[in-house]
Amino acid sequence: MVPWLLTRRLPLMSQNAPPTSFESFDDLVDAFRKHVAPNKLAYYQRMGLQIVMGKREGIWFEDAYTKLRLINCHCNGGVFSLGHCNPRVTGAVAAALGKLDIGNHHFVSAQRTQLASRLSATLDDALPRVVFGVSGGEAVDVALKAARGATGRTKIISVDGGFHGHTGLALAAGDAQFRDPFGPNLPGFVQVPFNDTGAMEAAIDDETAAVILEAIPATLGMPIPEPGYFAAIRKLCDDRGARLLVDEVQTGLGRTGRWWGVQHEEVIPDAIISGKGLSGGIYPISATLLTREMHEVLDSEANPFVHISTYGGAELGCVAAQAVLDIVGEPGFLEHVEALSERFAAAFEPLPFELRRRGMFMGLRFGSEAEALGALLRIMQQGVFCFPAGNDRSVLQFLPPLILSDDEAGDLIDRMTKAFA
Ligand SMILES: Cc1ncc(COP(=O)(O)O)c(C=O)c1O
Repeated sequence: MVPWLLTRRLPLMSQNAPPTSFESFDDLVDAFRKHVAPNKLAYYQRMGLQIVMGKREGIWFEDAYTKLRLINCHCNGGVFSLGHCNPRVTGAVAAALGKLDIGNHHFVSAQRTQLASRLSATLDDALPRVVFGVSGGEAVDVALKAARGATGRTKIISVDGGFHGHTGLALAAGDAQFRDPFGPNLPGFVQVPFNDTGAMEAAIDDETAAVILEAIPATLGMPIPEPGYFAAIRKLCDDRGARLLVDEVQTGLGRTGRWWGVQHEEVIPDAIISGKGLSGGIYPISATLLTREMHEVLDSEANPFVHISTYGGAELGCVAAQAVLDIVGEPGFLEHVEALSERFAAAFEPLPFELRRRGMFMGLRFGSEAEALGALLRIMQQGVFCFPAGNDRSVLQFLPPLILSDDEAGDLIDRMTKAFA
């Protein structure tokens, strides 16, 4: 239970509206309580926030019961960067349904090969090997396994308050609150503060397999890397023989105005991890881009099947992801993201928060959690959905869809301005 949520109440949604597949909202809630997650339900009830996602299209989604419409400026951390049900993605998947399924992860696959080569091309083939998974956490696990295999070392350094997922190695690299209920942490995992080169220098040693960093730590409240931070970490890794892994699950695929957030740092890591928006929210797929050297252990002559994932790189997911790459790769797309970012920066200048911003990856930082929650209430009253960062709740994560038209951007800016009038 999180006390700050108990102190304020957001507008109550989803009350007595027509059902979708349940007789009533109450029937749905009862069944959810019984079969899915009673405490998650209780938590949202205490907040007074009970959204049941109904119709969704482009930058909007609607509560299924109240029909309240919200512009999605959280986008599930970038899952919906191209909007909900982007017709180019759904169209590609619809055309493939009935002809393709997940395929066989052991066989050669045209869909997987094409997607892998296109992902590698975003970095001029600096990371030419791609291992596919289903979730971001799985893709992080792949990167950590590869680093351990390539170096023969076990120590992994991550950042306090960062987030890499809730699967095995990804969980071990994250916050104690998520791993403590499940027993002692795996050995070899160490955390240091973000943007602190001295702390990293003190932690990294000849036992270190890898440093894993988000390009901008989303859950930590989007602190922008200090100039030269990534370059310094790259050098420390090179000096000590460790690998640098960059988690781009939230920051990748155009969100920051470049293909990858780390491209702002002019550093080439040994692995880039992608997920969330890779399929536009239509089919679960994730990808770990690796150097050839990092990949060797995952596809060794001795055992080329040492790492497999049945649904990883499902051919239908590859079709969805290729449609996403088509859109992000279109001439002018990344420039549009940059232009939107500049427009928001100018519009937000007079508003009462500090703007953390790289492209359309934005954090609105207030003086306290209470101020941020008050702002969230006012923002939602203007029909805009965003959400606090889990590990710094004075920051609202603000990730509008990247497909905002100029008119939609103007409307969103008007709503945000009104929220603070
Ligand atoms: C930066 C980052 N890495 C990894 C993950 C894990 O992704 P998934 O939930 O798909 O396993 C997340 C999820 O929010 C994330 O934000």
